Amino acid sequence: MYICLCHAVTESDIQNAVEHGACTMRGLRDELKVATQCGRCATCARTCLNQALAEIAGDQEMAA
Ligand code: FES
Repeated sequence: MYICLCHAVTESDIQNAVEHGACTMRGLRDELKVATQCGRCATCARTCLNQALAEIAGDQEMAA
């Protein structure tokens, strides 16, 4: 699903960015340019970021 239409950023793109170290909205902006044009995607992008971070934290907890 597209999260940022201005830059064609998908939910998968955000998940991949988080897996490769992006952990803040600034990181997503730097890597994907998400929320840098009209800004309408910022809230949804933040939700995706938080979900991806929670998934990674859950995976690490299960591995420990
Ligand atoms: S939809 Fe993301 S900047 Fe416009």
